Amino acid sequence: MKLLDIIGGEELTGTIRISGAKNSSVALIPAAILCDEEVTICNVPEISDTDNLCDILKALDVETKRASESIIINPKKMKNIEIKESFSTKLRASYYFMGALLGKYKKAEMYFPGGCSIGARPIDLHLKGFEALGATVKSEGNKYTVEAEELKGANIYLDIASVGATINIMLAAVRAKGKTIIDNAAKEPEIVNVATFLNNMGAKIRGAGTSTIKIEGVDHLHKCFHEVIPDRIEAGTYIIIGALCGKDLKIDNIIPEHIESLLSKLEEIGVKLEIGSDYVIVSKRDNYKSTNIKTLVYPGFPTDLQQPFTTLLTQCNGKSKVTETIWENRFMHVPYLVDMGADVTVKNQTATIMGPTKLKGREVVATDLRAGAAMVAAALVAKGKTRISNVEHILRGYENIVEKLKNVGAKIESLEI
Ligand code: UD1
Repeated sequence: MKLLDIIGGEELTGTIRISGAKNSSVALIPAAILCDEEVTICNVPEISDTDNLCDILKALDVETKRASESIIINPKKMKNIEIKESFSTKLRASYYFMGALLGKYKKAEMYFPGGCSIGARPIDLHLKGFEALGATVKSEGNKYTVEAEELKGANIYLDIASVGATINIMLAAVRAKGKTIIDNAAKEPEIVNVATFLNNMGAKIRGAGTSTIKIEGVDHLHKCFHEVIPDRIEAGTYIIIGALCGKDLKIDNIIPEHIESLLSKLEEIGVKLEIGSDYVIVSKRDNYKSTNIKTLVYPGFPTDLQQPFTTLLTQCNGKSKVTETIWENRFMHVPYLVDMGADVTVKNQTATIMGPTKLKGREVVATDLRAGAAMVAAALVAKGKTRISNVEHILRGYENIVEKLKNVGAKIESLEI
């Protein structure tokens, strides 16, 4: 098991460069197999989620080369075989192979995906979308076989604006016959990034980033070069850390428009921010005001930043509330914050935070990826040493987190037992 030891109380100053977006990369890697030629994707973060997807590519005999931040993927000799359960369950995004394999070979065999335990995480909308395109779905236990004689464009309305279902249906529809319209599509920037990639390969997708996406099916997709957008959640996490203990901490290589909901909340509570075209400089101030947040689909406040933001709210004056509307089990960081000295109570889907409270170093657990980020943020302002266990969750989504924080002055060490 991997652990992090953090001694809190240091002022963080310098520059943190943000990596490519995890949630884009994990869709782009499976999407690459839709091509018949070699594709190059650059700015892919080296995190365990992208490593695990590359392992799936290798198992399908897809040539994959990693050259620093780039991945070159050549599916010319690929075989469409079942993706084993041990691969499927390593991460949530393994499900993008369902849409990509169905789109290319009209058949996908794999298992229910893994990922953080933050809620039930069904995939019914993905499967309904595939069925609307003409596929049949068979499930035996955790195994899913999705196949079609022919995929035909269809009008698909998503009951929930799901990120995963929107991308997966796009992947299945790009090589289908005719036109597909996805209504109530999710609008996250990662969806635009994936649609741009597919269009660079010759797909005809219009409207990504709005709630109606139109896809005109094409027969072939050709080679291309594509860049992953900066990770807005990683950026947001470090900006929150800067609000807690930064002094002119520069968070560089970001797209500030992608985190407007966070930046405006930070300004509301009194955080000092200088917002540039591709960076934010953040410094801690005293006497932050309390506030309320409610997680919503993009461009609302991202659920993935709710947990680290809760840590910041423990340092604000008065009563704050955090309402989680996307995932039903996303307050697992709260008992650990309370153990560190925070005053937080959870009722139904709302956490109430009374602040400010002094935090003390404790032994805590990263119960999921962003809960882990909340623990790192708390440890950096706590008095004394915090030991975080289950760090594997954090490493799924934050590239070089130890080096990035050390470089700006944090006392952080990783160890393994
Ligand atoms: C993606 C992100 C995740 C983020 C989430 C919401 C990736 C790899 N992960 O997850 O970090 O927290 O978006 O911004 O991009 N739902 C259904 N049926 C479905 C699909 C979803 O009911 O078939 C529900 C989910 O249970 C959830 C809501 O829809 O309540 C949103 O889920 P979705 O947008 O699909 O999240 P993911 O794509 O899994």
